Amino acid sequence: MRSVALTVNGTQHELDLEPRELLVYVLRERLGLTGTVVGCDTSACGACTVLVDGESVKSCTVLGVQADGVEITTIEGLAGEDGLHPVQEAFHEHHALQCGYCAPGMVLAAVSLIEHGEARSEAEIREGLEGNLCRCTGYHNIVRAVEAAAARA
Ligand code: FES
Ligand code: FES
Repeated sequence: MRSVALTVNGTQHELDLEPRELLVYVLRERLGLTGTVVGCDTSACGACTVLVDGESVKSCTVLGVQADGVEITTIEGLAGEDGLHPVQEAFHEHHALQCGYCAPGMVLAAVSLIEHGEARSEAEIREGLEGNLCRCTGYHNIVRAVEAAAARA
């Protein structure tokens, strides 16, 4: 076991982790943050995307011990005191989800794209989200939502 300190959604956690534990399972099973979901076992789907120090990261590709000292934002931590994050609002307004399984990862990937100025066109958004799969194939409305959120940013 190794002691790790993570800040998740503004709260610091001290955890004793086995070196083999993936960050996605640390978030889900140790911290109860089940908005971060697992959609594959090949690092392909992006459903497990979180922000690590502001960068979108597939949390199934990171060991919990590698996250020692970082700040993580999951979908549970995105809304503020004033309500939903603008990207969440845009997903709501543009009906950018069907079953919703991909939505946490899509939203967080979109937040990162917009914050990095990489959502300036439909083509750029589609390229930026290519690591996030939607099994309901709802890509059209997802892209519309990200375009709307980027226009307001
Ligand atoms: S669960 Fe992480 S990429 Fe699919
Ligand atoms: S809305 Fe169902 S997987 Fe994307």
